[in-house]
Amino acid sequence: MKYDFDNIATPRGIGSVKWEFRKGDNGLEAWDATKENDGHRQVLPLWVADMDFAIAAPIRRALEARAKIPSVGYTYKTDAYIAAVTGWMRRRHGWEVEQDWIAMAPGVVPSLNMLVRTFTQAGDGVIVQPPVYHPFYMVIENNDARVVRNPLRLVEGRYKMDFDDLEAKAADPTVRMLLLCSPHNPVGRVWSEAELRRLGEICNRHDVLVVADELHADLMLYGSVFKPYAALGGAFADNAIVCSAASKTFSLAGMHTAHIITPQPALRAQVGAGLRKAAMFGMNPFGAAAVQAAYDEGEDWLEQALAYIQGNMDFMAGFLARNLPRIRMIKPDATYLAWLDCRALGLDKAQLEDLMLNKAGLYLDEGYIFGEAGAGFERINVACPRSVLEDAMGRLANAVGP
Ligand SMILES: Cc1ncc(COP(=O)(O)O)c(C=O)c1O
Repeated sequence: MKYDFDNIATPRGIGSVKWEFRKGDNGLEAWDATKENDGHRQVLPLWVADMDFAIAAPIRRALEARAKIPSVGYTYKTDAYIAAVTGWMRRRHGWEVEQDWIAMAPGVVPSLNMLVRTFTQAGDGVIVQPPVYHPFYMVIENNDARVVRNPLRLVEGRYKMDFDDLEAKAADPTVRMLLLCSPHNPVGRVWSEAELRRLGEICNRHDVLVVADELHADLMLYGSVFKPYAALGGAFADNAIVCSAASKTFSLAGMHTAHIITPQPALRAQVGAGLRKAAMFGMNPFGAAAVQAAYDEGEDWLEQALAYIQGNMDFMAGFLARNLPRIRMIKPDATYLAWLDCRALGLDKAQLEDLMLNKAGLYLDEGYIFGEAGAGFERINVACPRSVLEDAMGRLANAVGP
């Protein structure tokens, strides 16, 4: 491998959320995870979806070059930037995105928040498919809309959508929107074209707007193929808004640079109005430089990072099967997040959390934060050096016992 994925690129003291903070009652609280904890060298933070790897060399070069320019005033998308985004979508996903479909945003979550605010009124229903990325609930509740749950079903180790339930929920005329997580965080599913069509037909039939969060679209494992929702075309694209970014793909989340892609002109005008109303303007110049370099020159790094991540997934699956059969890993089609079914340990929420944090010295995302259906599960981030994952698995085995 040309790139080094065996070392942690994040020093302490830079305000890294993953390494220097944890979740508190009122948002993040500073936390020295490097402190001794129950005899462990340090707590291993394998939670928030950030990679430990150094960013790709072309991105670093672009940032260094940009830092040499002594002007960082208000910045907006250039033609070269937009060409980088559309080129990526064409090459990687076979999706022809037209330039004027793309609006800039400072992140996917702020975009989802703005979209719920723009397209729903107080009391309207928004469908989510739990267990699901927890800020989905937040953006709905922030805007006085109503969370409508269409839970995924776990069938023989694989999550599936429940279309009968979806049809029933979408038929309620106060339900206006569905937040689609594609690929799905935390369960790692890449939805097939057939599944997306079936979901889309239901939403179109009942006039439910599909907002697709495709942030993990580039992180395909095991030969999975991603289908962008709006690339289904026709009536699907006409009733869709896609949120996308390079931030998970290339570990650029701190750059706060995302895209809202809306093929249908009337919807696009509403998105534009929503952005203005939310005062979401402009672009971070370093984000612009980083994302453009990532999309134009980052493929080689990404291929290697994905091979490494898949190796980590395989290592963990093998380790758990051999040493901890009571913890079952849901094999992901995509993402660097694995969903661990710990229900066979027979622990309640507090006991499981205590086991992971205090006995194993692992800071993971507790499954229940993704919705009640996630209770008894843990989400682990494996975009870390193999040695860190080996350490984590050893700790887990010691803490859980045979
Ligand atoms: C599905 C999903 N959407 C959105 C986000 C966050 O996006 P942003 O940092 O652009 O707000 C994450 C982060 O992990 C995510 O997993």
